[in-house]
Amino acid sequence: MADSKPSAADHYEAQSEIPAYLEKVYWWTYVRPWAIRVFERQWLVNAILFGNFTRLRDRALELLGPRLPGATLQIACVYGDLTNLLYERVRAGEGQLDVVDVLPGQIENMRRKLPADAVVRGRIMDSSALKISDERYDRVLLFFLLHEQPEDWRQRTLAEALRVVRPGGQVVVVDYARPKWWHPLRYLLPPGLALLEPFALDLWRSDLKSFLNPSTPIRSLTRETVFGGLYQVVVIER
Ligand SMILES: C[S@@+](CC[C@H](N)C(=O)[O-])C[C@H]1O[C@@H](n2cnc3c(N)ncnc32)[C@H](O)[C@@H]1O
Repeated sequence: MADSKPSAADHYEAQSEIPAYLEKVYWWTYVRPWAIRVFERQWLVNAILFGNFTRLRDRALELLGPRLPGATLQIACVYGDLTNLLYERVRAGEGQLDVVDVLPGQIENMRRKLPADAVVRGRIMDSSALKISDERYDRVLLFFLLHEQPEDWRQRTLAEALRVVRPGGQVVVVDYARPKWWHPLRYLLPPGLALLEPFALDLWRSDLKSFLNPSTPIRSLTRETVFGGLYQVVVIER
């Protein structure tokens, strides 16, 4: 594996505390260095998503667009090649890509996957309290972060994503949802999710809209579902 030195472009000076839920629930998938080495396998992430990783990744990228000028923010690192493909689109649009994650090890891992000359800025921050000015970005991507967060964290993360995107910009969210009545996973998955991802079932029970602050003005919200409803792709236009 390549050297894990952070790039000079990454912001390490203002590290955030590791959220309690992350250490308690996800220490073995994201927090420990060995966990990053184990999980940084696209086939594994694809298996966890029942073979839907590339489909969801590609749909999110398609909704963002083929060329991405201006400023793009990805909130939370993702195992696999999502960020590399997002960066290609940002580069094609001569834009700027920033990636926020609360764990320095995740930013270092992202950096190892990117081409050495990639101009991507990693920023160590908690998604629920971004140290970023209002309306700074043209678009924001949240890929499978919200189901990992307790409700208050999820609400603040969504509020922050909407705060840092400019009016008319988009927030694209990809995450779990409640499968259709005929889907076998609707009955088989809850015990496993309750054990391993205790906040994920919130997204089965409640519409994503219910986690938005009603006083935050949005122009539109469109939602589509994938794989019999187990996943949702939501585009919020601010
Ligand atoms: C996006 S989610 C899960 C993505 C998906 N399951 C995958 O394939 O990797 C995982 C990332 O979210 C980050 N994360 C979790 N809570 C966070 C928070 N409050 N602020 C910023 N990053 C957070 C974790 O450090 C981890 O890198």
